[in-house]
Amino acid sequence: MTVATNLFKGTSFLRAKRDTLLAIKKAQSTLTSVKKSSSSVLAQAAKELGELRGRSLFYPALFSGVGNGSLVELIDGSVKYDFITGIGTHFFGHSDLDLIGVALEAASKNVVMQGNLQANTELKDFLETLLSLAGPPLKYGWLATSGTDANENALKVIRHKKTPAYKVVAFKNCFHGRTLIMADITDQDAYRKGLHRYQDAYYVPFFDPKDPHSIEKSEAALKEILSQHTADIACFVFELIQGEGGFHPAPPEFFKRLMDICRQANIAIWVDEIQTVGRTGELFAFQKLGLKDTVDVATVGKMLQNCATLYTEHYNPEAGLLAGTFAGSTISLAVGKRILERLKEEKFFGKNGKIAQIEKWVFSGLKNLQKEVGEETLSNIGVLGTMVSFQFRKGDLEETKKFILNLFEEGVMTFYCGRGPYKVRFLLPGGAITQKDFEKALSLVKKTIHRMES
Ligand SMILES: Cc1ncc(COP(=O)(O)O)c(C=O)c1O
Repeated sequence: MTVATNLFKGTSFLRAKRDTLLAIKKAQSTLTSVKKSSSSVLAQAAKELGELRGRSLFYPALFSGVGNGSLVELIDGSVKYDFITGIGTHFFGHSDLDLIGVALEAASKNVVMQGNLQANTELKDFLETLLSLAGPPLKYGWLATSGTDANENALKVIRHKKTPAYKVVAFKNCFHGRTLIMADITDQDAYRKGLHRYQDAYYVPFFDPKDPHSIEKSEAALKEILSQHTADIACFVFELIQGEGGFHPAPPEFFKRLMDICRQANIAIWVDEIQTVGRTGELFAFQKLGLKDTVDVATVGKMLQNCATLYTEHYNPEAGLLAGTFAGSTISLAVGKRILERLKEEKFFGKNGKIAQIEKWVFSGLKNLQKEVGEETLSNIGVLGTMVSFQFRKGDLEETKKFILNLFEEGVMTFYCGRGPYKVRFLLPGGAITQKDFEKALSLVKKTIHRMES
């Protein structure tokens, strides 16, 4: 028995925790539906923040700190459905009492941040849980505080083993983060404007469902790159569902065939699951697609609250290569572990899991709306677990943004993705949302469509 065990299992601590949770529960129970905003309060706060950052927010959303599942309160007292969840981080919605309970204990621990020379049990437990759910051949993991950092570490462990090869094959329209190298690899010129170009990546087209020869074309592109630059290429980084690029999926066959070529050429296979982890119907999209045995390196983040790079025995680097002051906060590690446990215990995965069920009613809800408003207004519906997108009218960027801002005013927070046609996208709070919530939000989508017609 340590002093810590006595404290955290002791009656006084548990009573204080219970009282706090009861107070939150009482407060959040008053948030039951969308409430319109007094936009001037939000607009002023957003303006002030914009002056501090040098750039305004996409929409004037500053959060009060209390929510109830899919609903969240903003600082002006308005209440909105959150269908973008901080770009995919709050899968269990707002003010989830179980997660707050875990966070309360974590927040009472001796340190805020953990890292290389400060590991508490939360760090070990998070990594152990993550690795056990990933399973072999992934054997080791290194934690990071952003998805981009996890990707940097992935590229490091790969280059370390493949040196002098250093180049990366990636998909056209991919997104892998914002550090100098990740921005260089990310296939979006707007994100690397004015930056020195390392030109470290070659690009292969992603799967195109409209093209019957799409797989062969991507295979040919990869073979061509390999034949010209074999000695330089260290890896292929796969986004198994293109996220920022427009929520594009591909069949297992597409990846299998490309990965077979990578195997034969002896280049590393790295899957970037920073956005997909937890939300496609299995913990990892590579598990859902039957690619588990082929993966050398995987990166995760977002909904797990903490980020990590996982790798096989072969890619475990020598000491000195990976380090860093921070690996995660005590809260993010403790809550991240609880999220992993709940995803499994509460049966989110599998053919009949909760995510598969959400996928069905989300798809039919959007299809019904499409019937009402017409295909010229709403098309290109994509539902991949809790990653949802659709096209508004012609998918023009400015019009899509305007639609999203109007929808925000009506009470639903969303965002956009794609590279033209642009799409409206939801990263749904799958652990909190009900079918009723979704239908109510769709009625606001419909209202927004009508508002834009008039
Ligand atoms: C596929 C993918 N990789 C990397 C990142 C970067 O993660 P972060 O924003 O946590 O640095 C993102 C973020 O959207 C992502 O979707």
